[in-house]
Amino acid sequence: MTTSPRDKTAPRDIDQPAVIAARTDDVSALNTKKVFIKTYGCQMNVYDSERMADVLSPIGYAPTEVPDDADLVILNTCHIREKAAEKVYSELGRIRKMKEANKPDMKVAVAGCVAQAEGAEIKRRAPVVDMVLGPQTYHKLPEMIAKVHRETGAVLETEFDTLEKFDQLPETRKPKGFSSFLTIQEGCDKFCTFCVVPYTRGAEVSRPVTQIVAEARSLASQGVREITLIGQNVNAYHAEGPDGGQWGLGELIRHVALIGGIDRIRFTTSHPRDMDDELIKVLGEEPKLMPYLHLPIQAGSDKILRAMNRDHTYEHYKQLIAKIRAANPDIALSGDFIVGFPGETDADFEQTMKCVKEIGYASSFSFKYSVRPGTPGATMHRQVPEDVKSERLKRLQDLLYTQQREFNQSLIGKTLPVLVEGTAREPGRLFGRSPYLTGTHFDGPEELIGQIVDVTITEAGVNSLIGV
Ligand code: SAH
Ligand code: SF4
Ligand code: F3S
Repeated sequence: MTTSPRDKTAPRDIDQPAVIAARTDDVSALNTKKVFIKTYGCQMNVYDSERMADVLSPIGYAPTEVPDDADLVILNTCHIREKAAEKVYSELGRIRKMKEANKPDMKVAVAGCVAQAEGAEIKRRAPVVDMVLGPQTYHKLPEMIAKVHRETGAVLETEFDTLEKFDQLPETRKPKGFSSFLTIQEGCDKFCTFCVVPYTRGAEVSRPVTQIVAEARSLASQGVREITLIGQNVNAYHAEGPDGGQWGLGELIRHVALIGGIDRIRFTTSHPRDMDDELIKVLGEEPKLMPYLHLPIQAGSDKILRAMNRDHTYEHYKQLIAKIRAANPDIALSGDFIVGFPGETDADFEQTMKCVKEIGYASSFSFKYSVRPGTPGATMHRQVPEDVKSERLKRLQDLLYTQQREFNQSLIGKTLPVLVEGTAREPGRLFGRSPYLTGTHFDGPEELIGQIVDVTITEAGVNSLIGV
């Protein structure tokens, strides 16, 4: 299920694939081969796809946006909902035809969370696949490619060694634009009963502060002005700081804010259980930290929250939001919601509606519960019929989109600093993002791309702003 009506300016819909654009700057004489990477899923997969390109560049692969052109095709996959996972097989069908028609030597890799979850089964279902690699093994791509060229049969890598991966990845990044993701934490120990992530990404691991800072500096030196620190549970971040003490996300943000050239910092995704006081304080104090917080609750009923193993009540969440808003009244709040979790009654669903009305969201992602084999939710009794889920999702989204439109309309007349990311579809128009992550369009010269400019908002829709 998708989340909101979207245009190209909307935040990424995690069910929609994205393609890594060819980077002209690294197409050197050395790069004689081409790699096409298609990305499904969350921001971490976007990050991982960029890192795969970084790993492949030294062995002669340049990115291409045209699959027919590619010597290597990588599908970086998502397992979060059934629909996301099934897309991979239809795409593999298309790739097989393409390979047979005009690229017999093309190699095909399946990476990401479907690779981790299904492993060798992928090769059985889709014999066109040469390599299957989980999210913690893509630093081994050069080795795997060499092996595939030596041997017949598929090469499989699905070990979990997150820290080894980060140690092996090149320190320098080749960013695509002015805003970049940076993974600081990976994996999840929360085991929400609906979710595959703890199984596909492994246990929670935080990267050392010095490694993160080195990567952020590399990005800044190449013109990146906004960094989004990402993790499946980003606010569970904890690692040894340069002073020898244990640092949480708050301390890390203050430190990254000191890097020259980095003007904006964001972080995602947070869990309500891990919002500590230091982080809340930083949300109120650090001017480079953008006033936008994605803090999912998933459902409003305490009974459902318990069944989901979220480990907090609605009251806890409400108090937390009050504390965050007291620290920074300007914060725009975003959330994720699941409707139709097993056992969800009409009364439980009404609690979710009540939660949305009471809290108020500037943006959101909402989904019908999707049964994921191997998770506790899959075998729970009282699964909710599909038509009930659809009806609930529609009601919830009507409310969420109304709130989103109202939030955007409240910005009309205000002047917001917008980081200009590129040109919009209409000639003469530019596209950038407001502090609240809203896509913002305005007329201006292309020289403004990469700058943070003041835009006065004149019009607002559900997903985007127009200004001058
Ligand atoms: N770590 C993040 C979320 C990761 S998945 C967090 O804890 O908030 C992103 C979102 O997908 C989740 O927040 C949830 O709303 C949704 N999701 C996860 N598993 C799902 C499932 N089985 N069915 C429907 N939606 C799901
Ligand atoms: Fe999944 Fe829950 Fe972990 Fe988020 S916190 S990744 S929803 S198990
Ligand atoms: Fe999907 Fe894996 Fe991200 S399952 S949402 S790509 S962590």
